[in-house]
Amino acid sequence: EVTQAAVRSVQHDLFGVLGRPAGHSLSPAMMQAAFDVLGLKAYYLALEADDLAEALAALDAVGFRGLSVTVPFKQEAMKLCVHVDAAAQRIGAVNTLRRTQGGWEGRNTDWLGAVRALERQLSLQGVTALVFGAGGAARGVVYGLTEAGAHVVITNRTEDRARELAAALPCSWVPMESFHRVKPQVVVQTTSAGMSGRPYAFRVPQNFFTPQMVVMDIVYSPLETPFLRQAKAAGARVVDGLEMLLYQGIEQFSWWLNRPAPEAAMRQALRRAAH
Ligand code: ATR
Repeated sequence: EVTQAAVRSVQHDLFGVLGRPAGHSLSPAMMQAAFDVLGLKAYYLALEADDLAEALAALDAVGFRGLSVTVPFKQEAMKLCVHVDAAAQRIGAVNTLRRTQGGWEGRNTDWLGAVRALERQLSLQGVTALVFGAGGAARGVVYGLTEAGAHVVITNRTEDRARELAAALPCSWVPMESFHRVKPQVVVQTTSAGMSGRPYAFRVPQNFFTPQMVVMDIVYSPLETPFLRQAKAAGARVVDGLEMLLYQGIEQFSWWLNRPAPEAAMRQALRRAAH
């Protein structure tokens, strides 16, 4: 049976998500749905690795065509690529690998995912955007917002990290105590606060969110975070974390396969897998 599976897999293109852990990833459901709806002979697998360099060498040898890279490998993967695009270099992380003759080529689609998820709601050109967080995820979001023409203000629990990010990318920062003075049209929550099992950290003043705002949380477990619930209750338009996941995946798909991704099927599979 193992031999049969191996033989069958040779006729299929192989893709996967590489992380630690990888088992909880929603990407296999989303990507396999995309391949299946288009009738492509391809598999997308969850791949858990201990040693990233070893895993990438093995997956190259086996002939994997493309990989999504997730926690904790996004920074390290960049160093193992033969070529990395300018956005990924600026962000300092890759989330997408494509196999070439010479080795793995790296790209970052997280920032594009954030921009596309928000631009379904409004044009980002010239708007003021407030970003909560200054970690790796925030870097991608801030890069994307600035590329799309937004004025970005960040705020973070640890001020030194906010200061560092504001020195690296074209944004300013404010202390947590005074974010309510920023009058943004867009708000993005990029921290792990509000994830299932973690305490919700932000005290957002009652009158902060307004119906004119678009508010996105990149956390998707739970789908409705306390942050989004408060925004929604105030009448803001909310975008949950699955939308960013969807659009970063759509960008990965079209980079690997050089064709448009089946957006509706991918969204449906993702929403089903998240429930
Ligand atoms: P990621 O790559 O997912 O962004 P990270 O680099 O560890 O992960 O960054 C985590 C972010 O979540 C940081 O902005 C962190 O704030 P600090 O820099 O102050 O640590 C933020 N964060 C995590 N838990 C938080 C909490 N309970 N309250 C406020 N911010 C929190």
